Amino acid sequence: MNDRFLRACRREPVDRTPVWFMRQAGRYMAEYRALRAKHSMLELCRTPELALEVTLQPIKALAVDAAILFADILLPLEPMGAPFEFAAGEGPVIHTPIRSRAQIDALRVCDPHEGLGYVLEAIKLIRRELDGKVPLIGFAGAPFTLASYLIEGGKSAHFVDTKTLMHADPAAWNALMEKLSTVVSRYLVAQVEAGAQCLQLFDSWVGALSPGDYRTHVMPHVARILRDAAATGVPVIHFGTGTATLLELQRDAGGTVIGVDWRTPMDDARRRLGDGVALQGNLDPVTLFAPFPVVEAAARDVLRRMEGAPGHIFNLGHGILPKTPVDTVKRLADLVHEASERR
Ligand code: CP3
Repeated sequence: MNDRFLRACRREPVDRTPVWFMRQAGRYMAEYRALRAKHSMLELCRTPELALEVTLQPIKALAVDAAILFADILLPLEPMGAPFEFAAGEGPVIHTPIRSRAQIDALRVCDPHEGLGYVLEAIKLIRRELDGKVPLIGFAGAPFTLASYLIEGGKSAHFVDTKTLMHADPAAWNALMEKLSTVVSRYLVAQVEAGAQCLQLFDSWVGALSPGDYRTHVMPHVARILRDAAATGVPVIHFGTGTATLLELQRDAGGTVIGVDWRTPMDDARRRLGDGVALQGNLDPVTLFAPFPVVEAAARDVLRRMEGAPGHIFNLGHGILPKTPVDTVKRLADLVHEASERR
């Protein structure tokens, strides 16, 4: 088995720096677009055979060192009682945004085996099909990021309603965060039981918060999820974007690996976070639209900043964007392996 990804998570020596990409399955790939022409995004997620097929697309096309389950962070919202859809061109739309205490109280703390059994089934199929070729990463959204979709009803520029609930009614906010955290925590544990060999917690929009608000209103909930996830024994990647002022707090909240976005140079993150965690990152995904020599120089710079440090997982600082040239992604994975080979 190719275990260099899991070894790097544990800060053990590796023959080459492992690489995978957030959103490595998706619209930039013709194979994905062909399936999407026949099925909606939610159909792909809810049909284990289709989720398996999409998960394997990048494994066949790219020399990546890990597979990530094809799913979405928003899937738990539906069994909690907040249905949504992916509207063309708009992203996610929550049918009835959750803003009142009564709506929060009505949310169900669902059992992952009931509401999300199709994800667990997909994990079993993927593990069987991968047959040890590369490890499988499971994932979930962190409570702040999930709450932001629930409350705003979709993507948001300023998180006005989310932060207002947090500031104006901390008791209601905490009730919401506790429900989300319980669901996420059970869901992650169930993914490991189904066969996930690593977990990533996506707190994609947490960078909207000041360190003070993060510490008071979010960190205790994230810490609880990460404690439960760590107890399964698999490595856990704790990821966010816009987190330059939050990295130490995120590390203290937990995680075997901290995911770093492109705004913080990797060697700065390494100095700040110390020896207790591995780091994942952090090429700017927009770099991949430039000619390959530019991509190569930027990738070598990321590797150089982590040279000699155990525990680096090469990734982008956020997910691959639609329209990214596939050939560039492929060449980048190969370059990371070649440039980091330890003889
Ligand atoms: O990384 C992977 O390859 C695994 C699959 C994955 C998806 N979403 C598939 C997806 C993962 C890990 C996610 C996580 C996710 N989903 C996050 C956190 C990571 C991040 O990017 O910050 C967030 C915030 C979401 C919510 C979400 N899902 C949004 C905002 C959108 C629409 C934006 C867009 O790109 O259109 C989605 C839809 C979505 N999730 C797509 C995919 C492949 C596009 C669906 C399509 O085919 O139209």
